[in-house]
Amino acid sequence: MSSQEQTAPPAVWRNLDGIAYGGDYNPEQWPASVRLEDLELMKEAGVNFLSVGIFSWGLLEPSEGEYDFAWLDEVLDNLAAAGIKVALATATASPPAWLVRKHPEILPVTADGTVLGPGSRRHYTPSSAVFRRYATGITSVLAERYKDHPALALWHVDNELGCHVSEFYGDEDAAAFRAWLERRYGSIDALNAAWGTAFWSQHYSSFEEIQPPRAAPSTLNPGQQLDFQRFSSWALMDYYLALLAVLREVTPGVPATTNLMVSSATKSMDYFDWSKDLDVIANDHYLVAADPERHIELAFSADLTRGVAGGDPWILMEHSTSAVNWQPRNQPKMPGEMLRNSLAHVARGADAVMFFQWRQSFAGSEKFHSAMVPHGGRETRVFQEVVGLGAALQKLAPVRGSRVESRVAIVFDYEAWWATELDSHPSQDVKYPELLRSFHRSLFLRGVSVDFVHPTASLEGYGLVLVCTLYNVADAVVANIASAARAGATVLVSYFSGIVDEQDHVRLGGYPGAFRELLGVRVEEFHPLLAGSTVKLSDGGVGSVWSEHVHVNGADAISTFTEYPLDGIPALTRRPVGAGSAWYLATFPDGDGIEALVDRLLTEAGISAVAEADHGVELTRRRAEGRSFVFAINHSRADATVRVAGADLLTGERYTGKVPAGGVAVIEED
Ligand code: GAL
Repeated sequence: MSSQEQTAPPAVWRNLDGIAYGGDYNPEQWPASVRLEDLELMKEAGVNFLSVGIFSWGLLEPSEGEYDFAWLDEVLDNLAAAGIKVALATATASPPAWLVRKHPEILPVTADGTVLGPGSRRHYTPSSAVFRRYATGITSVLAERYKDHPALALWHVDNELGCHVSEFYGDEDAAAFRAWLERRYGSIDALNAAWGTAFWSQHYSSFEEIQPPRAAPSTLNPGQQLDFQRFSSWALMDYYLALLAVLREVTPGVPATTNLMVSSATKSMDYFDWSKDLDVIANDHYLVAADPERHIELAFSADLTRGVAGGDPWILMEHSTSAVNWQPRNQPKMPGEMLRNSLAHVARGADAVMFFQWRQSFAGSEKFHSAMVPHGGRETRVFQEVVGLGAALQKLAPVRGSRVESRVAIVFDYEAWWATELDSHPSQDVKYPELLRSFHRSLFLRGVSVDFVHPTASLEGYGLVLVCTLYNVADAVVANIASAARAGATVLVSYFSGIVDEQDHVRLGGYPGAFRELLGVRVEEFHPLLAGSTVKLSDGGVGSVWSEHVHVNGADAISTFTEYPLDGIPALTRRPVGAGSAWYLATFPDGDGIEALVDRLLTEAGISAVAEADHGVELTRRRAEGRSFVFAINHSRADATVRVAGADLLTGERYTGKVPAGGVAVIEED
C-alpha cells in the first residue's frame, strides 16, 4: 500500500525544483540560429529538463574512433547556462552505418530467419558481443567527456529497449539462450522435466541441441516459448546492465534509467523485474487517437507505471503534445487535452512531464509527429498550450515527492500475461489485460484509485484485491493472496487463474488447482464461449468469453449460469475466509455486470471514491507528510461539481467546488 510518508526524492530530482518539464531534444537536426531560438522558447515555456543525444551516435562518431563533440559541447554548455538539466543519452539506439557495414552480424534476426537491416533505427541484437563492445565503447567515451558537466542530471540508457523488436532469433541469440537455460536449470534432465519433453519426442540430450522457438511446422513446446520470453526480457535488461556498469564506474553519483513503454499493449518486457536496476522509473506513453476512452487507457498505463515504480514518483519521459505520425489516422489532441493528459500522469505519480520532442523535425520519418514547438513556431495553439502547461507545472511544485493513495490492488504479472496467451489454450479470446482493464475502468469511473501490485509483493493494507486470469502461479503467490483474505481483504479471483505452476504444468485434481481451497470451488471442465456469443446469468447479467462447470465446495453461489448445458451451475461464488472473503468469478461479465460486481465488492471492503463528484471527473489523491492533494480532471463538456475543501494550486485561490468543462483542479485539502 502507498505509504503516506514523504520519501526522499530520487537522486535525479536533487538538481531540479518541482515537477520537471521538457522533452527529447535533437539539436543536431538544426542550424545554430534555431538552436539559439530554442533557448529563448524553452525559457518562455518553463522547460528545465531535456533528454539529449538519443539517436546521435552516427554524428558523434562519424567513423570508427573519430569523434565530433563540438556541437554537443555547445548544446550542453548553453543548456547549463540557461539552468536546464539534461538526461544525457548513451546514443546507442541507432548504430552508425560504418558499424553495420563492418559487422553485419549485429543485425536482428526474426523467428522466420529474416535479417532486419539498417536505414531505420534499433537495428541490433542486445546479445551481440560485438555490438556490446562498440556500445559500451561510445558510452564510456561520453561518460568520460561529460562526467563533470553541470547540465548532467541523469543517464538515459539507450532508448525504449524492446521497441520495434523485442525477441531475437539469430545464432548468437540462440547461444545466449542456451547459456541462460543452463544457468536456470543446471542440467539437461531438469530442463526436460520442466518442458515436459516426453511429449512429441522433444527430448534433449544436451543444451547444444536447443534452438530458440523459430518458425516451426506446428505449435512449439510451451515451456520453450515461455522460457524464451523470459530470456528475451532478460537479454535486453542484461544489455542495459552492460552499459550501466560503464556509467557506474565513471559516474557513480549520477543516477541512470531507461525509458520503458508501460501500457496495456506492451507485453514483452517484465518491467517489474527490470525496475530493480533503474534508479528512477521512466515511462513513455502515447494515446491511441481512435480510442474514445483513451484517457482511461492512459490512467491504466500510468497506474501500472507507478506499480512498476513500487509507488515511488516516476518520470513521464515521452508523450505527445498533439498528433503522432505512426497510427493509421493521426488526429491532433483536442484543445486542453494535452494539459489533462499531462496532469493525469502527475495525478498518478509522475514528478516529470516530458514530450517527444522539443522541436518538430522538418525532415525524416517523424516530421509529421507533433512536438512542443510545431512547424508553425511559437504562434500556434500547441506552443501556447505548452507555455500554459509549463506555468501550471510550476504551481504544482508542492506535489513533488508525494505518493498516490489507493486501497484497491490489482495483481499484475508479465509472466502471467505471457503464459495466459500461449497458443493451444481453451480459448484464444482470453487476453490477459482485458478483464483487468474492465475492472480498472469501472474503478476509474467511480473515482477509486487502484495500485497494480506484483503477485509476490506485500498486499498489506489493501481492502480489495483483484486477481484476474493469473493462469500460472507459484505456491508462494497463493499463500500471499490467501493471507490478504485472512487478514481482512475482499479477494476476487477470476476464471483461468491458478491453473498451472511456474513451469506451465497443470495443477491436477480439478481447476483452479492453486486456488481451489481458498475459493472453496472445484471446476470440472471449461466451456469457453464461441466468438461473439454470450451466456445469461441468474442475476440478470450476461457473460462472454468464458463459462465453466463449477462445483461449490465450501463457497456460496451468488449467481449461476442459466443456459444449457450449465443451467444452475455457479458463475459467481463467495467464501468467508478469516477476517475477509474469497470470491470466484467464472465468466467475463458485461459492462453492467462489472459495475454491479464492483459495487458489491467496494461495499463489502468499505472503500469509497476519493471525493463526491459529478460523472466524467477523474480523481486521485496524492499525500505527503501532513499534506494532501486531490487531482480532479474534468473530461466532460460540462462544468462539474467535486466536493473537496481547500486551495486550488492552479488558480492560487480558494477552490470553488466546481471544475470547469475540460479543466483541471489540484486542491490542497484543508
Ligand atoms: C517513441 C520513441 C521516440 C519517438 C516516439 C514517437 O517510441 O522513443 O524516439 O519515435 O516514439 O511517438
